[in-house]
Amino acid sequence: MSSERTNTGSAQAAEQDFAWTPKASEIAREGGKRLREFLAQGVETEYKGDVDLVTIADRTVEKFIRTRLSEIFPEHGVYGEEGTRDRMEGEFRWYVDPLDGTTNFAHGFPQFCVSMGLEQRPADLKPEEDGALVAAVIYDPMRDELFTAERGKGARLNSRPIHVSTVPELAEALLATGFPSRKRHDSPNVHFYHEFTLRSHGVRRAGSAALDLAYVASGRLDAFWEFNLNPWDTAAGILLIREAGGVCSDMRGGPLDLRGNDILVDNGLLHQETLALFGEVYAGKYRAALPELPGKSL
Ligand code: IPD
Ligand code: CA
Ligand code: CA
Repeated sequence: MSSERTNTGSAQAAEQDFAWTPKASEIAREGGKRLREFLAQGVETEYKGDVDLVTIADRTVEKFIRTRLSEIFPEHGVYGEEGTRDRMEGEFRWYVDPLDGTTNFAHGFPQFCVSMGLEQRPADLKPEEDGALVAAVIYDPMRDELFTAERGKGARLNSRPIHVSTVPELAEALLATGFPSRKRHDSPNVHFYHEFTLRSHGVRRAGSAALDLAYVASGRLDAFWEFNLNPWDTAAGILLIREAGGVCSDMRGGPLDLRGNDILVDNGLLHQETLALFGEVYAGKYRAALPELPGKSL
């Protein structure tokens, strides 16, 4: 490999200079502990759509996070996946995914997290406009990994500074994506998945978009994209990546919209090459026919 793959830095950084994440981290850790307990006891799964799952763990942990955020930051709004819409008119708003990776959780596949991203919204902002992302917490309760960031102050994993990778080209890159559970038949992503798989070290599809984003921020992955995510999936991860030195845009290179249809993030070095391949796939350049089925000699 011609480049160094960086992950956690060595310097122990104090959390005290972060304004919001110390308290938010306590909430995420407690939420994550409850997810672990639910996992150990086993939970029933309900369907929100044909393959879109929800469990009592999603709802209970969202209720817990909503209550604790309201106690600690009484002026802050809370916008949660399981329906919370508190104080939407305020200057600050937390986007909360109490359990990102519900399908994994329901199958006992240990890749899921709590994700909390804080947006600052000036008073004159229109409802459909994005404010500035200012704080991020993503907690993986199975590995006890806490990713934090604040605007202008860097990104950390378990209090140590993290940075995006220095992998310079797709041919050396490890990538990730995800597929929606809602409207999955309409998703074009399999075409992108196919082309990127052929040109890289591989494309992981591990089932937690928030952790995928945190892994780009910490250099474990070099790029990630997905269609139709929501602000509770991405708000925290976007800030982590920006603070870790990476780049976030839509899939055509335009500015990222929290409520937009698509997201592309990478270490910055891969951005032009990745966008070029997206452009080619969008333009229909690769409509590969099914190859001959491999014989035993392969
Ligand atoms: C899902 C995960 C998954 C992504 C889906 C999301 P959920 O979130 O992030 O990786 O591919 O699009 O909906 O439903 O487990 O919170
Ligand atoms: Ca999610
Ligand atoms: Ca969720």
